[in-house]
Amino acid sequence: MRKYLARGVAAGAIALLALTACSERSDSSGGGSADSGKGFAANSLIGVALPAKTSENWVLAGDLFTNGLKEAGFQSDVQYAGASSTVADQQAQISAMVTKGAKVIVIGATDAAQLSTQVKQAKEAGATVIAYDRLIKNTPDVDYYVAYDNFKVGQLQGQALLDGMKAKKPNGPYTIELFSGSPDDNNSAVFFDGAMDVLKPEIDKGNVVVGSGQTDIKQTATQGWKAENAQQRMDSLLNSTYSSKTLDGVLSPNDTLARAILTSVKGAGKPLPVVTGQDSEVESVKSIMAGEQYSTINKDTRNLVKQTIEMVKALQAGNAPQINDPNSYNNGVKIVPSYLLPPQIVTKANAAEAYANDPTLSALTK
Ligand code: BGC
Repeated sequence: MRKYLARGVAAGAIALLALTACSERSDSSGGGSADSGKGFAANSLIGVALPAKTSENWVLAGDLFTNGLKEAGFQSDVQYAGASSTVADQQAQISAMVTKGAKVIVIGATDAAQLSTQVKQAKEAGATVIAYDRLIKNTPDVDYYVAYDNFKVGQLQGQALLDGMKAKKPNGPYTIELFSGSPDDNNSAVFFDGAMDVLKPEIDKGNVVVGSGQTDIKQTATQGWKAENAQQRMDSLLNSTYSSKTLDGVLSPNDTLARAILTSVKGAGKPLPVVTGQDSEVESVKSIMAGEQYSTINKDTRNLVKQTIEMVKALQAGNAPQINDPNSYNNGVKIVPSYLLPPQIVTKANAAEAYANDPTLSALTK
């Protein structure tokens, strides 16, 4: 399997940046930041800056952080960027956390490339910066990254799309459309690259055809991860390309967009294509059980928050947090030591098993 060296940077810049990163970085072991070794008081303030609630995982994360940090003996300040002017909101929230003396600031970035000033302030004040779920780009001032393996998420989505179409129609060629997430979220390109790692060979062989010809991430992007943007794009694709052609499948990067795509297809009175997703949102799990959306990804938010709090505890004790991937995430300036959790594909066939330890979701599979 192809291993991507620099998941955080645009393709053209990869080689140069990777070289810079290698020569500038003396400690690529994934070990501690400048702060580890010192520790801090057990009841210190920990800041958590989350993006707007563009999907259920973010809604869940807020309470999990508030409760988990409290249980671990910390004080917490958990903030969400608002629905509009999200970048400015988040910048102000992070600055306020620095002023209040937070020892660790956990950030789910609203815009990966717009936080350099704030994370610099945090570092200068002696705080450790952890990028949560989404990488923060173009800054040396991010210490750690904790996320589900985003490239793997994309690969699982690409494979699910192929499997789902084959199950419905044993022989190709298959006609598909591609959707990707918001361009300001570093994950969007990584999900898309992972999916294309699986789909591109099939496209090259002619087994899979992108009906509209729109295969560039600039064409497939969904600004702000907003459902209405995906729905509009699907409406116009159906108009331009599918008046007589059959659409077999749609690569959707997450559940919110998957449901928007399905709504568009239903509205046009067309047969439902195989549609992928991500996040195991309640409405999408219902849709999967009803045989509409084909797949989602299980990225249990409880485990991601737990792993992040483990990092905070290690830092508090003066230890280097555990890292399991020191190489994959180059943010354009440095390789950010990462802890990546394994994502799981979920279809109707394995939903009951996949959600067995999640009371809310498992109830939907009975
Ligand atoms: C997360 C996804 C989520 C998306 C939209 C991404 O950064 O990794 O789980 O669906 O943001 O909120």
